[in-house]
Amino acid sequence: GSSQLIDQWGRVATDLRISLIDKCNLRCTYCMPAEGLDWLPQSKLLTADEVVRIARIGIGTFGVEEIRFTGGEPLVRADFPTILRQIRQEFHEVPLSVTTNGLGLEKKIDELIDAGLTRLNVSMDTICKETFAKLTRRDRLDDVVKGIDYAASRGIKPIKINAVLMPGVNDHEAPELVDWALGRGYQLRFIEQMPLDADHQWDRDNLITAHDIKEQLSIKYDLTPHPAPRKSSPAMLWDVHPMGSPDVLGQVGIIASVTEPFCAACTRTRITSDGKVRSCLFSLTETDLMGAMRSGASDEEVAAIWQNAMWNKPAAHGKNSAGFEAEDFVQPERSMS
Ligand code: GTP
Ligand code: 5AD
Ligand code: SF4
Repeated sequence: GSSQLIDQWGRVATDLRISLIDKCNLRCTYCMPAEGLDWLPQSKLLTADEVVRIARIGIGTFGVEEIRFTGGEPLVRADFPTILRQIRQEFHEVPLSVTTNGLGLEKKIDELIDAGLTRLNVSMDTICKETFAKLTRRDRLDDVVKGIDYAASRGIKPIKINAVLMPGVNDHEAPELVDWALGRGYQLRFIEQMPLDADHQWDRDNLITAHDIKEQLSIKYDLTPHPAPRKSSPAMLWDVHPMGSPDVLGQVGIIASVTEPFCAACTRTRITSDGKVRSCLFSLTETDLMGAMRSGASDEEVAAIWQNAMWNKPAAHGKNSAGFEAEDFVQPERSMS
């Protein structure tokens, strides 16, 4: 069939994000408490077949143009290559990408590329071993770096590095991260921290903003807007030049979810690891697809539930405004993972 995941504000979701598992092998302070979360039992996670079925409905019925796999940590799922391979067998062209923390990437990337993975984003907030250990509560920076560099050597491109800056933790590291990432041919994206931490510690007054980041970078580099159109990308892209030089070292993106929200251009639809539609990161409601699939719903019935959930996608983060500071902003129960 041919219909769209359109919402009542006229946005069309063509970008499908599927969380494969809630579990993670890191404990980033802005995402999870030290002890982890109450992990879902295996029986509540989407099976590989269910993930493939959702992908098929997304692409086949709704014209989804790209699928990104997330978590938790998606590489923790042993059947991730199987999932990719099955989707790739049916859909030869659709980009299949992953957002990972990079642990275990070195061992797994060959099989993932072979199975059809096309793009890779890696979360890496610091290149200082001690800071990494403090921020993620695990001393694993070396594994992450090895994984990224090995993936690059296998030809996967582009590689995007995601970094969230936090005051007193890694906020002085922006130029070092730029040198590290661009020097190796990766794109670096700075992300404003969002109120999605399990501990509800987020504080607007302590936020490192897009403005702060640009200011910090302009001490060492010249930034000019990257010429390619932004489309629905969450990142505003900049070309980075050495001071006073026209040479381009590479691109830095800034994802200003807090100070310059991009909800109006959002093209995403998300499925949680337990098979629910979340129309937005900040939705307060979820709509169950897994239950319907497990009680024998047809593809048409599953599609109708999904479409209805997306119709009710919120316009923006707060009810009446885009701001997280707004009085009516309510932090959802689920953290980023
Ligand atoms: P690309 O396709 O490479 O642009 O991926 P992406 O940036 O969409 O995905 P990634 O998983 O790398 O996410 C990077 C950051 O984008 C996240 O940490 C979020 O800060 C932000 N982001 C992703 N999705 C959303 C969203 O739906 N809403 C908001 N506000 N921010 C989002
Ligand atoms: N604010 C902003 N980004 C976050 N991420 C996780 N939690 C938050 C948060 N509270 C980022 C990770 C990863 C991406 C998928 O989401 O660093 O790069
Ligand atoms: Fe794991 Fe990503 Fe959350 Fe860090 S931000 S704890 S890597 S899910």
